Amino acid sequence: MKNFIFAFILFALLTVNAAPFQLNKRYSIFLPCPFTTSDLLGVDIKPDPPVSEKSVSFNVSGTLSYYNITKGKTFLLIQYTNEAFGPFTDDYKQNFTKSIKAGTPFQIFAPEVPTPKLPNAYELLVAVAELSDDPAYKYNALACVFSSYNYS
Ligand SMILES: *[C@@H]1O[C@H](CO)[C@@H](O)[C@H](O)[C@H]1NC(C)=O
Ligand SMILES: *[C@@H]1O[C@H](CO)[C@@H](O)[C@H](O)[C@H]1NC(C)=O
Ligand SMILES: *[C@@H]1O[C@H](CO)[C@@H](O)[C@H](O)[C@H]1NC(C)=O
Repeated sequence: MKNFIFAFILFALLTVNAAPFQLNKRYSIFLPCPFTTSDLLGVDIKPDPPVSEKSVSFNVSGTLSYYNITKGKTFLLIQYTNEAFGPFTDDYKQNFTKSIKAGTPFQIFAPEVPTPKLPNAYELLVAVAELSDDPAYKYNALACVFSSYNYS
């Protein structure tokens, strides 16, 4: 009887421990950027987490509640930054190929985004952005999320 109970408990423990890995293969957790109060974006990256100097595919989806996406003006922006959100590599930009009205779900796929040599700690920003009219800022983010990584 004791052995059976032990085996049962062990089985229960294994089941509980294995479940999160089977159901949730995501590593990155994308949260709203601290400097905007904007809509969230769904971001699916492969590989997850990014690997230094190996390109990553980004499947980004969402719905902008207020802003319109304008062909020729709005782009997907991907930035690798340090923990203070200072970029340490060239920004990746991909234009939207059609205009999408506020309130309409959209999806944009970037199959091969170059990954820089990654430090132990960094942030990955994914935004729907436009160039800023304000000279103090490079971009105007219509929606922005980020994921933090710290291996140190
Ligand atoms: C991107 O994700 C959407 C679901 O959010 C899926 O329908 C679509 O097939 C994905 N695209 C690619 C290229 O993986
Ligand atoms: C979005 O486009 C609609 C017309 O299609 C316009 O009425 C609205 O003002 C636009 N919204 C913004 C924030 O520019
Ligand atoms: C994206 O759009 C901008 C503005 O229309 C244009 O200057 C740029 O060349 C486009 N980039 C690509 C990769 O098509």
